[in-house]
Amino acid sequence: MDRRSFLLGSAALGLAPRTAWSQARLLRASVTRQNLVGAAHPATEVWTYHGTVPGPELRFRQGERLRVEVENALPAQTVVHWHGIRLPNAMDGVPGLTQAPVAANGGKFVYEFELPDAGTYWYHPHLGDGEQLARGLYGALVVEERDPPAVDRDLVWILSDWRLDREAALRRDFASAMDASHAGRIGNTVTVNGMVRDTFGVRAGERLRLRLVNASNARIYGLSFEGHQPWVIALDGHPVAPHWFERVVLGPGMRADVILDCTGAPGSAHRVIDDFYRGRAYELLKLEYRAEPRLRDAFEPAPRLAANPVKEPSPGAEPERIVLAGGMMGEMPNQSSHKGVFWTLNGKPLRHDHHDQPPLLSLRLGQSYRIELVNRTAWHHPMHLHGHVFRVLSKNGKEVLPRQWADTVLLDPDSRAEIALVADNPGDWMLHCHVLEHQASGMAAFVRVA
Ligand code: C2O
Ligand code: CU
Repeated sequence: MDRRSFLLGSAALGLAPRTAWSQARLLRASVTRQNLVGAAHPATEVWTYHGTVPGPELRFRQGERLRVEVENALPAQTVVHWHGIRLPNAMDGVPGLTQAPVAANGGKFVYEFELPDAGTYWYHPHLGDGEQLARGLYGALVVEERDPPAVDRDLVWILSDWRLDREAALRRDFASAMDASHAGRIGNTVTVNGMVRDTFGVRAGERLRLRLVNASNARIYGLSFEGHQPWVIALDGHPVAPHWFERVVLGPGMRADVILDCTGAPGSAHRVIDDFYRGRAYELLKLEYRAEPRLRDAFEPAPRLAANPVKEPSPGAEPERIVLAGGMMGEMPNQSSHKGVFWTLNGKPLRHDHHDQPPLLSLRLGQSYRIELVNRTAWHHPMHLHGHVFRVLSKNGKEVLPRQWADTVLLDPDSRAEIALVADNPGDWMLHCHVLEHQASGMAAFVRVA
């Protein structure tokens, strides 16, 4: 195994060299400690891939084959799910549905599949509740374009939040009914690449490609870059017509590729703000310009990425309908017969660990479908489908522009969205809310494609 390649592409190193990435890799999950909050605070006991939060940034080229051996040194069983990748069902990492869990204290499993699409993806456990993710198990999977656009640095920012006590220890309240029936387990400490950061150093005149990943259990981010005009060039890994944005919103599981042109003056500082939750805006970090002279004075428009080989769904056919209900201030399932279950999909409380339940939808292989998702709750739900990507056609009846592909669509409270896809990947695929406490308490269905 080439250990060095794990380290390439990390924030400090800048532009990753264009070499082959497809060597076999070992991913070891274990219990470790990491300082999340800064030197003035104790380190936190975390669960990690390869000893760090986030886990190693895996970089491959489009069309290459990923081969990763997972070794489970955790005191609990686990699996690895490759979020957003269109892969064979047996490699999808869902215990009980696509594989047996990897045993605690030494179990192993080899994941191997091709990477058809370029883009920003990530990997994480899929145990049905959010505990392993909240403890730190996640990492980025970057699939580079065959002909990547020219940028000065290509970087991943994995956003996550933690619920820490005063000693910077992780609070153990993982499956609380309060979180599950409300917005999920939102933490009190936000990290970028596993650290609370005050600043992020940039050079005037450089062009960055920032790959933003939301690896939080439940927190939604609404990021803006003060004094800058960033472009979005890809969403959930897939190219989108480049467009400026004021604020990019990322629900759990979602990604955005951003071109950030560093137009500030040498020596200046600019805030990156997250103001998704009203009245709770905070500064994520400051872009801090070094004193060095400007690298360039003017920027080309953002590059347009080549489309991935995703089949365009054909129009027509009555949409399938999925109704989300439940939660606090909604119609919750009766707690005497469904203890700890707060949500329903089409009237059924669907649990991750009940795969003997029938599929929520049965789709014919190769056929196009429209699906209307109707959120009759007072809460946000990032709904995620495995093994496929879909067009996000509309939200509340309004066409979503520019046209985009996604694997996760964020539904606002009391809203609806229409998506369309070609069911071209056979198997049983999870369709669930990526607020992991919602997933564990009723919002975990699967869709059968056959
Ligand atoms: Cu990112 Cu079903 O998961
Ligand atoms: Cu939800």
